[in-house]
Amino acid sequence: KTDLYAGRPVAHLTPPEGWMNDPNGLWYDEKEDLYHAYFQYNPNGTVWALPLYWGHSVSSDLTNWLYQGIAIAPERDDSGAYSGSAVVDYNNTSGFFNDSVDPRQRVVAMWTYNTPEKETQYVSYSVDGGNTFISYENNPVLDINSTQYRDPKVIWHEESNKWILTVAHSQKYEILIYSSPNLKDWKLESSFGDQGYLGYQYECPGLAKVPVVEGENGLTLSNLTSNNTSVNNYFNSSASSNGKVKEAWVLFISINPGAPQGGSATQYFIGDFNGTHFVPFTTQTRFIDMGKDYYALQCFFNSRNKNDVLSIAWASNWQYGSLVPTDGWRSSMSLVRNLTLKEWAPNPESVQLNLNSEPILNMKPSKAKNASTELTDVLLTTKDSISANFAPRMNTGVYDFEIVWSVNKNAFNNSRLNEWTLYIDSQDYYAEYLALGYDTTAGAFYIDRGNSYNDFVSLNPFFNNRESISLEPYSTSTNGTNTYKVYGVIDQNIVELYFNDGSIVSTNLFFFSDHNQIRGFETYTNVDGGFKFDSFKFHVLNF
Ligand code: FRU
Repeated sequence: KTDLYAGRPVAHLTPPEGWMNDPNGLWYDEKEDLYHAYFQYNPNGTVWALPLYWGHSVSSDLTNWLYQGIAIAPERDDSGAYSGSAVVDYNNTSGFFNDSVDPRQRVVAMWTYNTPEKETQYVSYSVDGGNTFISYENNPVLDINSTQYRDPKVIWHEESNKWILTVAHSQKYEILIYSSPNLKDWKLESSFGDQGYLGYQYECPGLAKVPVVEGENGLTLSNLTSNNTSVNNYFNSSASSNGKVKEAWVLFISINPGAPQGGSATQYFIGDFNGTHFVPFTTQTRFIDMGKDYYALQCFFNSRNKNDVLSIAWASNWQYGSLVPTDGWRSSMSLVRNLTLKEWAPNPESVQLNLNSEPILNMKPSKAKNASTELTDVLLTTKDSISANFAPRMNTGVYDFEIVWSVNKNAFNNSRLNEWTLYIDSQDYYAEYLALGYDTTAGAFYIDRGNSYNDFVSLNPFFNNRESISLEPYSTSTNGTNTYKVYGVIDQNIVELYFNDGSIVSTNLFFFSDHNQIRGFETYTNVDGGFKFDSFKFHVLNF
């Protein structure tokens, strides 16, 4: 074999070397117009191990990331600077800053100091624009004598003029909510718990105020609100509006293990937050990403466009994160995603709010010959296929594709599996491919990693399942035709799938034996005339 290791993603944040897990301390520097991302980091090896640090990278376009060094280190080698968040203390409420630090760069981090004895919350501040941090002399600022107390996420709550903190009391299945005027003195206000999927523990909570986008599929909030009184009251009150846009609160809670697809995943609740209590509209939980590799989601403090709610998650899974075949470095983050709340109506009787994800990717289709395939109205048959091979020179390893497909239910013999498949083929190993497609029997999109890098897949039962993602049609027509849509991004060893404009997402790693080099793609169907690609686009991307 030429090389057993995967190529490094181009448009996703990766560590320069060593191990990375959760995103931490995400903030936007208004002075430099620069995004900062920190991450759980072991520079000394490619598996999770103590001492654990905060690594630091920056980006101006949220696609190209530049590593800056270690920002926070634990005090002891048997300990870790665990996950946490960062805020900009413009008004110097903490008193940490003097006038020499620009208000837009008064960054304060709050994080968990993990020792074998307990987990406590620390604050640190930076006077050099977020590169290094000074530990507050009276740390810890919170200590409840627990080994299961971590991942502080701080936001600024305009309405009550206070800092608000969510922190996980992990195996109690509780999210503790605190308030503070100065980031140092915290008052416990309430707790939210025993809701949604519990798994083995709650981790990495976060509250975010997310704009509501109306008018999707011809629906309006009035349809939505007629079904649910608590939602109705909320949207009729001034709490939901900042003068321009309607907003609602989202509470994120990651769980590990115990996710629906196995291992770790990020769930969320939609509701109201009044400065002390979070009250969900319903106790129903949802998963922001139905793939296997999307954990510990965190939102940025501020963004270039004020109404954007930007988020990043760790694109891996604790089930196998430390085993994936990469060399010298391990793990990547997801693409940055802008979050909105949209109306979503699987059936007209249950119109709901749903968190919608829009990827941010600053790359464009390559102009090279044969780098793009764009087709419309292709009726799929068992004899024809759409395919392309990419010449090595133009082949960056980054691709996007968009498929809008219609399903003519009358064409199917229900007794067997009817599907179309998009194969992403390995360059040198003809038996290796990633299979994606839609299967009418299950009414689901699927992703199958079972024929990727055999040495890895055969040792990892969690990696080789055909994963299904139930899909609602994007649109339906009176003649029984359902239409669906997927936008996909492939970057070396990660594929992100956005269905129906981001109402459902699935993020998954995959590995080939040859550095994750991709030869090209081909499509396949086992039924004549049942599927039509209304539109099919596949691009090699570059900068
Ligand atoms: C989640 C997590 C956090 C913790 C960090 C340690 O992936 O377990 O709860 O702070 O990782 O690296």
